[in-house]
Amino acid sequence: MKIAVVGGGSTYTPELVDGFARLRDTGLEVDELALIDPAGDRLEIVGGFSRRIFDHHGHPGRVTWTTSADAGLDGADAVIVQLRVGGQAARISDETFPLACGCVGQETTGAGGLAKALRTVPVVLDVAARAAKRANPDAWIIDFTNPVGIVTRALLDAGHRAVGLCNVAIGFQRRFARLLGVSPDAVVLDHVGLNHLTWEQAAYVDGVDRLPELLADHLDELAGEVGLPATVLSALGCVPSYYLRYFYCHDLVVREERGESTRGQRVAEIEAELLEMYRDVGLTTKPELLGQRGGAFYSEAAVGLIAALRGLDPDGVHSVNVRNDGTLPFLPDESVIEVSARVGPGGPVACEVAPLPGDLAGLVGAVAGYERLAVDAALRGGRQRVYRALLAHPLVGQHEYAETLTDELLAANSQHLAWA
Ligand code: G6P
Ligand code: MN
Repeated sequence: MKIAVVGGGSTYTPELVDGFARLRDTGLEVDELALIDPAGDRLEIVGGFSRRIFDHHGHPGRVTWTTSADAGLDGADAVIVQLRVGGQAARISDETFPLACGCVGQETTGAGGLAKALRTVPVVLDVAARAAKRANPDAWIIDFTNPVGIVTRALLDAGHRAVGLCNVAIGFQRRFARLLGVSPDAVVLDHVGLNHLTWEQAAYVDGVDRLPELLADHLDELAGEVGLPATVLSALGCVPSYYLRYFYCHDLVVREERGESTRGQRVAEIEAELLEMYRDVGLTTKPELLGQRGGAFYSEAAVGLIAALRGLDPDGVHSVNVRNDGTLPFLPDESVIEVSARVGPGGPVACEVAPLPGDLAGLVGAVAGYERLAVDAALRGGRQRVYRALLAHPLVGQHEYAETLTDELLAANSQHLAWA
């Protein structure tokens, strides 16, 4: 099969390539991995290194690269989208401008997340429209581009065969498996919510929920790993993802952010260093420094999902972003949720989810309402749609802030927004 990677010049790509090279027992036969990126220089470096990774593992597939999306998508059997519009500079802006109003600066949630959504949705839809013409008709689009919930919804609304992917769930699965001394595949999560707004409600091993035991034996450790006080986990009786820290510890995060440089700045430094390493023709395996990026298990998640979509993993459960379609009864069917799902060639089918307690459901409902407005603002543009989405976001939520942040967002992103 041919897999196209849009945004293939990313310094993350070797993580993905390493996964395809190592995880061949999934039965996935990758004949061609086509990396697509407008940044030709980077692509050359990342492409060359990716080819060496395949060679090093004796993988028979070809790694190709091109700056032409149409050429790269031609005949693709699966399309991974992992692009970043505006690069780290735009990310740094997302992480900074909301602080003026005492709101969290983050690239996937709050006002920063909206800015990213507005820049990204039109670009991903353009890629998907090209894929619809060029790729094989049964190809799936696997979206790793943030904000994943919003981007996936826009793709599905436009009629594409798309599924959104994030590594938060697989990270918990691996973590819980290690704590319980079982293999990762033995752990089935009741992972539920919206992308970057999820909770682990249960962790089944052989049909028995072991989460209560994990919370009893490892409470402080688990709380520390998601950056939350243990009280939050014990009160909720579940494990929130670390993205819930932006909600449950919002003002604390703002205070921390005000004293520090941004994550985007740190990532830009790591990327420069990684690119230097990738240039070295003697380097044939992914360097440890890549582990300092947030994408742990990204390749396992992507390879596992693509294998399942190809029918190679009939019993596999994968946490993905899909239409709600009644899974969470308090949300509209069209909302995109992140849940564990059984995945086959027909796509993901959400597993049953234990009813969400009212407090979690309330937050999910509010953010899902924001996400709908965010898609609308990204597609149709206009200051008022941006304002309304910000007013709806629980991390902004006030008129005064929504007004100011709309102006800031538009000023900082005008070069990326055709309508602004
Ligand atoms: C996790 C999230 C991704 C996000 C990444 C950021 O993997 O699930 O959605 O893109 O962290 O990592 P970075 O190294 O860019 O800060
Ligand atoms: Mn994610």
